[in-house]
Amino acid sequence: MDPFAVLLLCGSLVLFSVSGFGGAVDVISASQTLRDGETLNSSGGVFQLGFFSPGRSTGRYLGIWYSNIPVQTIVWVANRSKPVADSSGSLIVNRTGGLVLTSRGNVVVWSASPTGFVQNPVLQLLDNGNLVLRSAADASGGSSSGNFFWQSFDYPTDTFLPEMKLGWDLRTGIKRSFSSWSSPDDPSPGDFTWSLQNIEFPETMARKGGTKYFRSGPWNGLRFSGAPQQSLNPIFWYNFTSNEDEVYYMYHVNNKSMLVRSTLNHSNYMWERSTWSPDSQEWRVFLQLPKDYCDNYGLCGPYGKCSMTNLPYCQCLKGFSPTSLDKWNSNDWSQGCVRNKPLGCPKSKDGFLKYSNIKLPDTTNCSVDATLSLKDCEKKCLINCSCTAYTNSDIRGKGSGCAMWFGELLDLRQYPDAGQDIYIRMPASEIGKELIQPSLIFPQWNRTIA
Ligand SMILES: *[C@@H]1O[C@H](CO)[C@@H](O)[C@H](O)[C@H]1NC(C)=O
Ligand SMILES: *[C@@H]1O[C@H](CO)[C@@H](O)[C@H](O)[C@H]1NC(C)=O
Ligand SMILES: *[C@@H]1O[C@H](CO)[C@@H](O)[C@H](O)[C@H]1NC(C)=O
Ligand SMILES: *[C@@H]1O[C@H](CO)[C@@H](O)[C@H](O)[C@H]1NC(C)=O
Ligand SMILES: *[C@@H]1O[C@H](CO)[C@@H](O)[C@H](O)[C@H]1NC(C)=O
Ligand SMILES: *[C@@H]1O[C@H](CO)[C@@H](O)[C@H](O)[C@H]1NC(C)=O
Ligand SMILES: *[C@@H]1O[C@H](CO)[C@@H](O)[C@H](O)[C@H]1NC(C)=O
Ligand SMILES: *[C@@H]1O[C@H](CO)[C@@H](O)[C@H](O)[C@H]1NC(C)=O
Ligand SMILES: *[C@@H]1O[C@H](CO)[C@@H](O)[C@H](O)[C@H]1NC(C)=O
Repeated sequence: MDPFAVLLLCGSLVLFSVSGFGGAVDVISASQTLRDGETLNSSGGVFQLGFFSPGRSTGRYLGIWYSNIPVQTIVWVANRSKPVADSSGSLIVNRTGGLVLTSRGNVVVWSASPTGFVQNPVLQLLDNGNLVLRSAADASGGSSSGNFFWQSFDYPTDTFLPEMKLGWDLRTGIKRSFSSWSSPDDPSPGDFTWSLQNIEFPETMARKGGTKYFRSGPWNGLRFSGAPQQSLNPIFWYNFTSNEDEVYYMYHVNNKSMLVRSTLNHSNYMWERSTWSPDSQEWRVFLQLPKDYCDNYGLCGPYGKCSMTNLPYCQCLKGFSPTSLDKWNSNDWSQGCVRNKPLGCPKSKDGFLKYSNIKLPDTTNCSVDATLSLKDCEKKCLINCSCTAYTNSDIRGKGSGCAMWFGELLDLRQYPDAGQDIYIRMPASEIGKELIQPSLIFPQWNRTIA
């Protein structure tokens, strides 16, 4: 047997919770083991890594939770689909920095590999809840994310913590997104998911069983176009970063001792942001999405727009009429609206009608040219017959950049005093003329929210 292997064996016999690691309790070094029943604490004692059984399950999962609150609150799970059947689970950091979780008989339950060669690997749990693999020699001591060879923040489960990134790492190809647990007893991925779409003009999209369910509207430089509540918050600040390496959304909490988390709740299909109340010793939800009826994805169908201050909630855009009048009048708006007059392009002239305070449509078929002004954006949209709308992609200052939609416009929403401008393509004959509001022709329905 080679002497290295002997060392490895001896190393793994040392119980982690016994001190003797130079006082550092927030790291596991190469060939040390974390067994079921032992925990790794973050240095400030905010988070703990260890084994747990969720709800009524008897399976054991490796996960991270808050260490100093009485309500067990799991923020991350290593292998959501595969519990260890008994208390034989153990996590080892091997010589090359591989993380290997095994159960009885050395069966590998979960493993993760470093992104490169790590000299002297150590696994450290940070006070923001990120479990990171770095080199013991890393002078930043875990404070520089550029030095991580693996991190749990790259593999989110159902919880979006401050400083986590939602979006793309273009260097590694990792796309970070969220999915709910299957049930309170089962952390395996449920059917409620949350991710970013359209790397040029990103917006968050929630799906329920694969079907689009709620979206935030695209990031417009200041906020998500359909998240008016986002601008008025004293507790947080938000960051959206887009460069050749990364495209992501992140939030930060001003008060570092405040515990804040956002989760995907499988029982009510809500994205919930909550804070821990030290006084009442419970999580208090202060933001839930979807927020209201008009937040339901595609409620009003193509070319329809939803307004909470109107009855019915759905209206066709100007110059459009319901695709099916029967359905529309019985409050099934999903088929949306069609043009009263076809577009002229390429034979005759088209123009644009301006709408204000709008949650911009689904960006699936939207493309952006950040170098164009609004005027040039109009020209560029006009010469392409399939371009149906345009607007500034960034509303900071006087506005800049060009976002163009191709094909049907879906999931528009009218706000009384939020959202932004959008210019929608119309045949020239329909512009400037008195357009009849469909809501004046069709009966009002006093439908209440179910
Ligand atoms: C980790 O924190 C918990 C709770 O604060 C404490 O009971 C435990 O002794 C700590 N473990 C270590 C290894 O410091
Ligand atoms: C360490 O673990 C990784 C991940 O499982 C594995 O690919 C690698 O071969 C292991 N290295 C050693 C020296 O055992
Ligand atoms: C988690 O467990 C599943 C089921 O056994 C397995 O297929 C998968 O490879 C494991 N994931 C990782 C990252 O090890
Ligand atoms: C926030 O975003 C800006 C640019 O988008 C970036 O320069 C800055 O470093 C970010 N701050 C943090 C804390 O990520
Ligand atoms: C920060 O949060 C903690 C915990 O919620 C609270 O006790 C404290 O008063 C807050 N500090 C400030 C300056 O708001
Ligand atoms: C999910 O929502 C239900 C019903 O509103 C609530 O009882 C439960 O505590 C929530 N779950 C989590 C993990 O917050
Ligand atoms: C995007 O375009 C494709 C192809 O034309 C179409 O099938 C799809 O419905 C469009 N999606 C949206 C959200 O507009
Ligand atoms: C119009 O734009 C679409 C989407 O960018 C593109 O696929 C198509 O080729 C363009 N058509 C013309 C005539 O330029
Ligand atoms: C509409 O309102 C009237 C008066 O409040 C009520 O009698 C009627 O049942 C309502 N209709 C529907 C479809 O809710």
